Amino acid sequence: MRETEQEAAAGRPAPPGTPRLGVGMVGYAFMGAAHSQGWRTAGRVFDLPLQPQLAAVCGRDPEAVRTAAAKLGWDAAETDWRALIARDDVQLVDICTPGDSHAEIAVAALEAGKHVLCEKPLANTVEEAEAMVAAAERAAARGQVAMVGFNYRRVPAAAYARSLVAEGRLGRLRHVRVRYLQDWLVDPAFPLTWRLRKESAGSGALGDLGAHAVDLAQYLTGEAVAGVSALTETFVKERPLLAGSSSGLRGAGATKTGPVTVDDAAVFTARFASGALGTFEATRFATGRKNSLQVELNGELGSLAFDLERLNELSFHDQSEPAATSGFRRILVTEPDHPYLEGWWPPGHGLGYDHTFVHQARDLVHAVAAGTSPAPSFADGLRVQRVLAAVEESAAKNAVYTPVTDQEAT
Ligand SMILES: NC(=O)c1ccc[n+]([C@@H]2O[C@H](COP(=O)([O-])OP(=O)(O)OC[C@H]3O[C@@H](n4cnc5c(N)ncnc54)[C@H](O)[C@@H]3O)[C@@H](O)[C@H]2O)c1
Repeated sequence: MRETEQEAAAGRPAPPGTPRLGVGMVGYAFMGAAHSQGWRTAGRVFDLPLQPQLAAVCGRDPEAVRTAAAKLGWDAAETDWRALIARDDVQLVDICTPGDSHAEIAVAALEAGKHVLCEKPLANTVEEAEAMVAAAERAAARGQVAMVGFNYRRVPAAAYARSLVAEGRLGRLRHVRVRYLQDWLVDPAFPLTWRLRKESAGSGALGDLGAHAVDLAQYLTGEAVAGVSALTETFVKERPLLAGSSSGLRGAGATKTGPVTVDDAAVFTARFASGALGTFEATRFATGRKNSLQVELNGELGSLAFDLERLNELSFHDQSEPAATSGFRRILVTEPDHPYLEGWWPPGHGLGYDHTFVHQARDLVHAVAAGTSPAPSFADGLRVQRVLAAVEESAAKNAVYTPVTDQEAT
């Protein structure tokens, strides 16, 4: 019976009369496609108070953005993000562009009375992130909401891990171990895309992967990173210039080369506010690791372990069990009682990367309807940005311990 209800639930349209939430999205490549999937699907899987309407998508090339609109399911196309923000049928602006444009678009959208979803990292600098938080606070007083796209919080296993930690199942935390490993930069012929230039990306593996690692650590533990000791390295210092355009982690190289101005890898140790010790790694040079975000938490009462490459699973060790039979056991996080699973498939049928964007859209729509601040908020994004800045400062001094400024508990 439950199986039949779940099968019927996935794919059903919103009930007639559900008010619409017009979405306008800037950028339509990797994240644009993922967010489109989220907006298209959320209202067909979950009961939402507002039905997302894919009102308009924005890019800079008129023909390419029209093609993307048709492919991804958007009603209209714009070639200037200011025109997108000004549209009457857009109530929420979704920013899926590189970090150098996040602050300008987000602040303009908030000042124009729109809700905002902005991809991570929130900005390229702490100063930009502070301006975004100030704009979000002013907008909140007018009933608008602003969220940053740390989507890994919305992997059901991660959300469930957070609830186990919050319930005290691990007791006092001692170790927080987070490694975000990819290998798409190993080839020195990979071109100099925007991700390898400081002026567009802010930083390299640190801002791209390290931002996710820090946010997930702070979310899972409910604690702030208080200070760090860091090393960064750029292994390949010169790469072919980009020939044509790039999308996501793809692009072709020209014959001329240019300097890589961001880190290829960042490693750092950290102190958490409670005294727990953290170890972090973010790299695009971990040969054989494609998108492996590994987390392990060790507490006095037990441990939790998770790997994004096996995202339906959570490993849990309960220290109170008899030593002879205790050990990590695998929890398949696909039960209807697990976070987000009420709308999906029968137990064991598994979710993937794209579902995190559906969950993100779901949670944001609820926050818009309720007029409450969604999590992760722009303030959460700023907290991550401050940790990234401390990592860069520490690395510049060859790993001198550097406190995170103005850090409060999350
Ligand atoms: N949450 C995640 O898992 C995740 C994964 C990848 C990227 N990201 C983040 O998403 C953002 C975008 O990354 P991506 O991988 O989608 O990049 P991408 O290169 O695939 O796409 C960037 C898009 O932005 C457009 N764009 C750039 N400047 C623009 C402007 N001024 N006006 C309109 N469009 C503009 C480009 O044309 C392109 O469509 C970055 O902040 C990145 O860190 C998040």
